[in-house]
Amino acid sequence: MYIRDSGSRDQATQGCIVFIHGFPFDGSMWQPQLDALPEGWRGLAPDLPGFGRSPLNGQPSKASAGRRQGSGIARDDEPVLSMGRLAGEIADLIDGECDGTAVVCGLSMGGYVSFELVRRHPGRVRGLILVDTRAEADSDEARENRLLMAQTARDSGSGPIATTMIPDLLAGSTRQARPDIVDRVRSMILAVPAATVVGALAGMAARHDSTGDLATIEVPTLVVVGDQDAITPPDGARRMAEAIPGATLEVIPDAGHVSNLENPDAFNRAMGGFLGDL
Ligand code: MLT
Repeated sequence: MYIRDSGSRDQATQGCIVFIHGFPFDGSMWQPQLDALPEGWRGLAPDLPGFGRSPLNGQPSKASAGRRQGSGIARDDEPVLSMGRLAGEIADLIDGECDGTAVVCGLSMGGYVSFELVRRHPGRVRGLILVDTRAEADSDEARENRLLMAQTARDSGSGPIATTMIPDLLAGSTRQARPDIVDRVRSMILAVPAATVVGALAGMAARHDSTGDLATIEVPTLVVVGDQDAITPPDGARRMAEAIPGATLEVIPDAGHVSNLENPDAFNRAMGGFLGDL
């Protein structure tokens, strides 16, 4: 995987924080956080397989895991980006670069990967920042939408995906006053190949429901949500924070579903306070 790295290993006297991007973005979405980490912290922001500069690789869904894993969205000859595979890649990164343990910060799909990481590799996670995400699995309606989106990506690439998603992803104030952020998000989406879109949609549709796991999370946890997040709204984030023992909730003003990019100052203050308390 291609990895953005805020500094060298020996600078990480406080530890490592691994940032996991959402769908359909890449690790560059975390640049404002990599640039603002408190002293002694090293940040790593990978491009997950198939996104940004990382190759997709992977087995076709038929060869790898069959229909349930492809959840009826990926065809037999298309690879599936299961949350389990992505969690495994992050665990390897933590082993290779962070001496086996890190704070993990995941946005939306990155949150789904974080839940899988905690379930499969609990020892690798010493703290969690769950950003604009949810613990619930997909509803039937959400799966149906993913099926349509996958077909759109196959037929027409990610252009129409960007057009459809941006109004939901970004707060109205961001869309009106921050054309630079809108362009940045659009360019990330346009760079994602159709095969990655399909593989990630299939992987997300097949993900576990993590609501039952929330009460068992034992590491310090910060839940962050944009006050105008239309995809994973603040009410859901509040319920999630209440279900995780000792978790705190930070609502980021003037931000939608990509709160770290839409209001980096408020986001970085919350992140810095959390890391400082660890
Ligand atoms: C994301 O931002 O990663 C997506 O909204 C997640 C999803 O489609 O469920």
